[in-house]
Amino acid sequence: MKYITVALAKGRLADFAISLFEQLGFDCAEMKTKTRKLIFTDETHKFKFILVKASDVPVYVEYGAADMGIVGKDTLLEEGRNLYEMLDLKFGACRMAVAGPPSMADQLHTSHNLRVASKYPHIAKNYFQIKKGQTIEVIKLNGSVELAPLTGLSEVIVDIVESGATLKENGLEVLETICDLSARLVVNRVSAKLERERILDVVNKLKGLIE
Ligand code: PRP
Repeated sequence: MKYITVALAKGRLADFAISLFEQLGFDCAEMKTKTRKLIFTDETHKFKFILVKASDVPVYVEYGAADMGIVGKDTLLEEGRNLYEMLDLKFGACRMAVAGPPSMADQLHTSHNLRVASKYPHIAKNYFQIKKGQTIEVIKLNGSVELAPLTGLSEVIVDIVESGATLKENGLEVLETICDLSARLVVNRVSAKLERERILDVVNKLKGLIE
């Protein structure tokens, strides 16, 4: 039997994702240890699990190097890859928002060439240009995005808001909500056909767990 490979996003979502597969009866013991290994095999079920950077999950799944993956909707929207989004797993719930100092609330709609810092340049561009018809200058950052308006690098940010604590502690607030986010199960288009039964089995069992 062929191995089914599952790509899991390292970081915030990994623990949830691993516990879901554990509840389905997969052997995830080694994944939970502090190993530097990146690939884990469950010989009984003939499943492999790989731990990759979140933004790489859709890449592995689109190319079929992984048959399925678990990743945040934020990453899916940003990467825009060709794959099936099969299930909203509900965990990791948060939202994508435009945030900035309270003083920007009035200027947000009228400003031209607003400077927007974000780890999600495509989401930011699409939201402002397509949805709001506003041209913006996107400044791509890789973390601690909240610093951008505090240092004058940008006027606002587009970022994930979970508890809201990071914004609050830095004197910023949500100005507009772009969309809700959560973890999603994605499947390679070819694998969905060739390994239909085994993949659907996992999808249905996961559905049972979250409902
Ligand atoms: C994310 C996000 C916000 C923060 C939101 O950053 O980019 O900064 O979490 O969470 P909160 O609303 O609960 O405060 P992350 O912790 O992934 O680190 P990074 O900024 O270095 O990317």
